[in-house]
Amino acid sequence: MSAYAIQSDNIVTFEGTSGVTDGFIVVKDGLIREITQRKPLNIPCYTAAGMTVTPGLIDAHTHLVHAGSRENELADKLSGVPYMDILKKGGGILSTVRATRTASIEELKDKARKSLDIMLAHGTTTVEAKSGYGLDIHTELKQLKAAKELNGEHPIDIISTYMGAHAMPPEYKDNRRGYLDLMINEVMPKVTDAAFVDVFCEDGAFYLDETREILQAAKALGFGVKLHADEIEPMGGAELAAELGAVSAEHLLKTSDAGIEALAQAGVSAVLLPATSFYLMTGSFARARDMINAGVNIALATDYNPGSCPTENLQAVMTFAAFGMGLMPIEIIRAMTSGAAKALGLTDRGAIKPGLKADLVIFGTPNIDYIVYHFGLNHVHSVIKDGIFVKGGLHADRYDC
Ligand code: NIG
Ligand code: FE
Repeated sequence: MSAYAIQSDNIVTFEGTSGVTDGFIVVKDGLIREITQRKPLNIPCYTAAGMTVTPGLIDAHTHLVHAGSRENELADKLSGVPYMDILKKGGGILSTVRATRTASIEELKDKARKSLDIMLAHGTTTVEAKSGYGLDIHTELKQLKAAKELNGEHPIDIISTYMGAHAMPPEYKDNRRGYLDLMINEVMPKVTDAAFVDVFCEDGAFYLDETREILQAAKALGFGVKLHADEIEPMGGAELAAELGAVSAEHLLKTSDAGIEALAQAGVSAVLLPATSFYLMTGSFARARDMINAGVNIALATDYNPGSCPTENLQAVMTFAAFGMGLMPIEIIRAMTSGAAKALGLTDRGAIKPGLKADLVIFGTPNIDYIVYHFGLNHVHSVIKDGIFVKGGLHADRYDC
């Protein structure tokens, strides 16, 4: 069925003053054609009365493809061992690197496919996926290939990011220059399956000057650039993102006033990860309100990864954005739809608007406040990707709404 309508009294469009309307969404050939108060004639109509329709959720920051899990670090973590200390001892990211290097591409895909299924069930229709658990050329390209193949096989769209600068590989521990040269001269020119390059700019990962050098080289090769910035220490990562004209700066827990101003001036999106703040147990959240007030575009994402945030569920992130950052439900949904689309440079999705992709989530709740209010469970009733029901389904009255 190429054309149909969905009727709801609660459609979150992000167009108009309130961004919420009631009426009919007309979908044809995978695209949104019209939002109208008039009943469309001669097409089947699905009723979502008493439910809430939003754009498909966009998870703008994940480490989707990897092997293994790290529950063996939980006791240390709960006893107060800092995240970067676990990495220094060869655990953390490096433990996942060991598992990912020895995994086959099919093993990586099987695990990531399960995560994609969970994401879809919770309302995610587009996901960004970073590499960075190989660090060597073979494994980095293997991760990116896995993501590319899954993009073709799974309903969720996957936008890939090369993140070889996620940790210093053990074999280059005493030769930082050698690893920078490898990424810049050998790996990045061979990366054909990623839109972006990202660097973990942090004391214990990559310093400011190293980050600048890697990302300048990435830009010269035509990649958009992103930074894991000011996550643990205030490094001036946000200021560097502004200097480089990055598409986004991500984490930003420790960003200064000057850093926020720099993001606003340069039009860099802030990708905020409040579930990671919760999981790191440092009590520190990014200053989302100050960023919004300064005019910075905000995205909220899971940061799904096996160490600092093992969840695929954007509805869990809603809880932490509300109760950790004080954001309102409408701000949260915006940051997971139109705000997240902007943080990925996507102009074909993220709102319910004629001409955009018909990626839609139908929440079984009377309004969006209820999604955030009744926390800890999955409120998704149905998911539509490119116009097709990929989860759930609604009752269709043929040719009548
Ligand atoms: O975004 N901070 C660096 N990278 C990830 C964590 C990766 C891991 O612990 O495996 C993050 O939090
Ligand atoms: Fe991350």
